[in-house]
Amino acid sequence: MASEKLHIEAKKLLPGGVSSPVRAYAPYPVYIKSGLGSKIKDVDKKEYIDYCMGFGPLILGHANPFLIKNVKDQIDLGTLFGAPIEQEIELAKKILGYYPMDMLRFVNTGTEATMSALRVARGYKKCDRIIKIEGAFHGAHDAVLAKAGSGVATIPSSPGIPKDFTKNTILVPYNDTDAIESAIRENKGEIAALIIEPIMGNVGVVLPEEGYLDQIRKITLENDIVLIFDEVITGFRIGMGGVQSRYSIVPDMTTLGKIIGGGFPIGVFGGKKEIMDNVAPSGDVYQAGTFSGNPVSLTAGLSVIEVLETEKVHKKIDEIGGQIRKGLTQVVNDLGQNYAVQGIGSMFQIFFTDGKVKDYEDVKKSDLDGFMKMFRSMLKNGVFLPPSQFETNFVSFAHKKEDVEATLIAYEKSLK
Ligand SMILES: Cc1ncc(COP(=O)(O)O)c(C=O)c1O
Repeated sequence: MASEKLHIEAKKLLPGGVSSPVRAYAPYPVYIKSGLGSKIKDVDKKEYIDYCMGFGPLILGHANPFLIKNVKDQIDLGTLFGAPIEQEIELAKKILGYYPMDMLRFVNTGTEATMSALRVARGYKKCDRIIKIEGAFHGAHDAVLAKAGSGVATIPSSPGIPKDFTKNTILVPYNDTDAIESAIRENKGEIAALIIEPIMGNVGVVLPEEGYLDQIRKITLENDIVLIFDEVITGFRIGMGGVQSRYSIVPDMTTLGKIIGGGFPIGVFGGKKEIMDNVAPSGDVYQAGTFSGNPVSLTAGLSVIEVLETEKVHKKIDEIGGQIRKGLTQVVNDLGQNYAVQGIGSMFQIFFTDGKVKDYEDVKKSDLDGFMKMFRSMLKNGVFLPPSQFETNFVSFAHKKEDVEATLIAYEKSLK
């Protein structure tokens, strides 16, 4: 197998043989050569229906012709200028038209977006503590790589992060507003921001219980805490306006990424003018980047939004997502299994645990080895899923009814 050979070589050169940890799985990851529409092909020319979709950005599928043409045209004009370009204004206007923010800044990744949003919130509020939801992923920067320690203490979730860097991060479970209220009581006047994935997409897919997000908005307003919705996954996926539009909530700040770069690196943070005015060079909170607002990512982003606006993308991907969830639930029931199938719109996941999953603790109870066994069988049966129980599957505009049918057959074989 060409993939196996490449992995043996890669392991000598790259830690674990990969450029990002979740791409590694036993016995070796398949090496992908190309992608078109809903499918990808590996170096051995085996084809897979893809639900990883680059971990979310590819809402139009692989190599969308319109997007590729626009990007190629831009590449001919130049790829980086280190100077302002017109597309920054165009894409900012588009995004601000869908999200209740006055201003935004382009960065290069979701990690940078949440890191910068938290810095700006802290600079604006002039205090250091933040509240984060257990199991939520906001990228790989120090303040958010925190886990619960003994008692209420929060400790780094990775060696190499000084304890001092996470001591201001307070963890609370998802779907639990009592925990937020007690964290606020215990840290009166010291909390700058609460950051949340309003629909959790990094523990499979976990949805907010009725009233949870409203309650969070109310509590943060009452206590003058900056509410940051991290919609890096859900932005432009749960409809154009993300989860905040679906649930009619106006956060103080929003972070975006993935889809708005059309498969190229991007991130965005933004919010109310009085907060964003603190960002350099308008204000004192420093933030900068060589590749920020680069013409290639912005052109790709504008192209995606144009397709989302002109074609019924969300209607179609939500329908396909619904068909998969329904079909998969049927498969699980027919096999007499109790596994939970969850999701919303174009996001879905099967949890190898009984009953509904409502937070990180529930997901952790899943049979993770069983999930990976299913993942490998799905691969054998021609379906590429994100290789972890803690990830979400994504449907794209390129997925068709035939893909759904083939996928459900593969699930049936694999779950057996
Ligand atoms: C909700 C959320 N925020 C932030 C990030 C970090 O984004 P990036 O990988 O572009 O740094 C991710 C990545 O998956 C994410 O899911």
